[in-house]
Amino acid sequence: MKTTQVGVLLPALMGVALGTAAFESIAQNSPPPQAPGMRPAVRNQGPQLQAAPMGSQGFGVPLPGLNRVQFADFRVGLEEFLRAETVEGGLGPIFNDVSCVACHSAPTPGGASDRRVTRFGSTATGVFDPLESLGGSLLQAMAIDRAVQERVPQQANVVIRRESTPLYGMGLMEAIPDAVLRQSAVRPKPDGVRGRAAEVVDVTTGQKRVGRFGWKAQQATLLAFAGDAYLNEMGVTSRFFPHENAPNGNEALLARFDKVADPEDEVDPVTGKGDIDVVADFMRFLAAPPMLQMNPSARQGEVLFQQVGCAVCHTPVLTTGPSSIQALNQKPVWLYSDLLLHDMGSLGDGIVQAAAGPTEMRTAPLWGLRASAPYLHDGRAATMEQAIVAHEGEGRASRDRYLRLTPSQRRQLAEFLNTL
Ligand code: HEC
Ligand code: HEC
Repeated sequence: MKTTQVGVLLPALMGVALGTAAFESIAQNSPPPQAPGMRPAVRNQGPQLQAAPMGSQGFGVPLPGLNRVQFADFRVGLEEFLRAETVEGGLGPIFNDVSCVACHSAPTPGGASDRRVTRFGSTATGVFDPLESLGGSLLQAMAIDRAVQERVPQQANVVIRRESTPLYGMGLMEAIPDAVLRQSAVRPKPDGVRGRAAEVVDVTTGQKRVGRFGWKAQQATLLAFAGDAYLNEMGVTSRFFPHENAPNGNEALLARFDKVADPEDEVDPVTGKGDIDVVADFMRFLAAPPMLQMNPSARQGEVLFQQVGCAVCHTPVLTTGPSSIQALNQKPVWLYSDLLLHDMGSLGDGIVQAAAGPTEMRTAPLWGLRASAPYLHDGRAATMEQAIVAHEGEGRASRDRYLRLTPSQRRQLAEFLNTL
């Protein structure tokens, strides 16, 4: 493991949120909800967190109920998440940025940002071709030397942008059993909504799992996503992703500029962990976004959310399975997503990735929405309303019902969404 230089920055960045006192006073559990899918009056955050305004310590805190060892892992992982990679440490030759926090920063480290990455491919033959031999489907927009700078190849006729997503509550999402998602996929749904579990192979175990992370539900575990991001966003190879990306597929160029032996992420013999493991710990122990108390108008919006059919895909709550980590053991997860792939018609991004077809997208979790604008996979929607209106395909019936709401009903729905 590389040494860290940002330790001194931590208290300043995280404010009082990381103080041990705050950690110990966070409430443990929420009572069960009154009706299916309707939020309980008291949310699964401590009272001092509910009161916290957006952009402050309410976001970015560790999960309630971590033990001391887990809390320490969270802090070590956070430091790694903040740390900028160096060329000597393995950065590049091609990359998109130098640290996780560069793209996951708002309103705290681990959040979202308006940073976008570019994906490309070709449909010239009628089937999607990710143009892997030309460096696809993800573009690395930066390089340690101009000679290796990647460009979108001429052959690409699908070029899209992907917005950075927030990472709050990812450990809870990871702990939802595959069986829950597979069962929800086969359950009959109204409005012609289907939904498919994203069957993927998890690179860290070789097992068949249900993907849930990323716009295309392309990864099933945080360790796999961490390895994927280290390689594809920063050019740092690891034991699961040992091969560097060749600039636009040019292996000779890669050989000339790739000076650090792979895998670049070394496992510390004492802890048994590399950077990918440590950063996965940080994400796993990062609390869900703090939910705000609902006023009567937001409560009304919650009812409309159900009536209009949003909740068919944006499932309010799922439950984690048994876990040896108490903070993740059989907990309600108010994520407002079924984590399934839906055919969104013209809203799809045209990219085939992991289990997802060109028009299929993962139902975006809606928790923390008030802090993650702009919206949709490419960030085209500045407001929640624009995001809703853009729903197509399986989302069309519900979108049309939304369009028939009165202006005051739409305001109530927006007030509800702003509390998630
Ligand atoms: C250059 C910007 C950039 C950097 C650097 C970056 N990410 Fe991301 N991250 C993104 C984007 C864009 C997405 C959405 C990706 C997609 O689905 O295609 C994303 C998605 C994710 C997700 C999925 C979250 C979800 O909603 O399911 C995880 C987990 C993640 N990133 C972790 C990391 C980690 C860990 C690092 C550092 C090793 C990192 N990212 C570095 C831009 C970045
Ligand atoms: C058929 C399933 C489905 C239904 C029904 C549905 N959504 Fe979505 N929603 C999605 C998917 C999939 C995405 C991600 C789309 C994308 O970005 O390509 C999404 C994205 C969103 C986003 C943007 C989230 C973000 O982080 O960018 C909002 C807001 C949203 N939906 C709200 C609603 C509301 C409100 C309703 C009811 C009027 C609704 N949705 C109905 C599947 C659905």
